[in-house]
Amino acid sequence: PTIYLVTPTYARSSQHVDLTRFCYTIRQVPKVHWIVVEDAEVHSPEVRRILNDCEVAFSHLVALTPPRENAQICRKVDSQPRGVKQRNTGLVELRRLLSLNGGRDGVVYFADDDNTYSLEIFERMRHIKAVGVWRVAFVGGLSYEGPVVDMGPNGPRISGWHVAWATDRKYPVDMAAFALNTRLITAQPDVYFPTHALDGHLETDFLSAVVPEGVELEPLGFELDRVLVWHTRTELPNLRQEGKLPPDRRPIII
Ligand code: UGA
Ligand code: MN
Repeated sequence: PTIYLVTPTYARSSQHVDLTRFCYTIRQVPKVHWIVVEDAEVHSPEVRRILNDCEVAFSHLVALTPPRENAQICRKVDSQPRGVKQRNTGLVELRRLLSLNGGRDGVVYFADDDNTYSLEIFERMRHIKAVGVWRVAFVGGLSYEGPVVDMGPNGPRISGWHVAWATDRKYPVDMAAFALNTRLITAQPDVYFPTHALDGHLETDFLSAVVPEGVELEPLGFELDRVLVWHTRTELPNLRQEGKLPPDRRPIII
């Protein structure tokens, strides 16, 4: 099965390095299709070059996040999560790609551009039947969040969640913690990410919409004593001295 990676990305001083690092991870993974959706009005030629040089199949799209409504008032209760418009545009592209490939099995993973991914997680997610879920480090105020798994007579079962923040979420996970068999996406053509969600509830709201009644989540990597994905965030570089020098005669792309 092909792994479809949906990656929102936006212009900032660390964008190209984050995309380059992500590319260097996924180019080592067989059979991936990278759907990159820029939070921008127009395609960036620099982003396009990174994709062209990456040696993986890709789709390069743009979808600008609409201006935040009443961001001030609503922030805590009704925030506009990041990357939503882009992931939804990615879902449209994914459904288009799937309609062309004759219903072959695939897996979709919403992979943000700044996280750190082990190669192992991609091999494990490839065989997800419906919804796979696993631990992610550095989220929810913990060293890691993830499913608590018991060995039942019929195999592993999720009996609870290792989570401390907003424990009332039905699916208390980060975006990096799950992937879906693409059948769920084609069978439910109206499923998209909600444009508004309570802070930190985007994932649980999406999963509540996309996981069919009665489907049990498949825990991956639970037998390991380590994590396979880290919710890292790239520190913005200090560029405070830039104004002191004359502009480069030939601008250097960073
Ligand atoms: C956490 C989750 O890991 C995200 O998946 C979730 O979208 C986000 O919270 C949220 O609920 O808002 P965090 O590390 O705080 O993530 O978010 P970012 O990594 O800054 O953004 C998530 C993705 O959206 C990234 O791929 C980023 O490049 C993209 N993004 C961010 C945009 O496309 N536009 C923006 O204005 C900001
Ligand atoms: Mn992030």
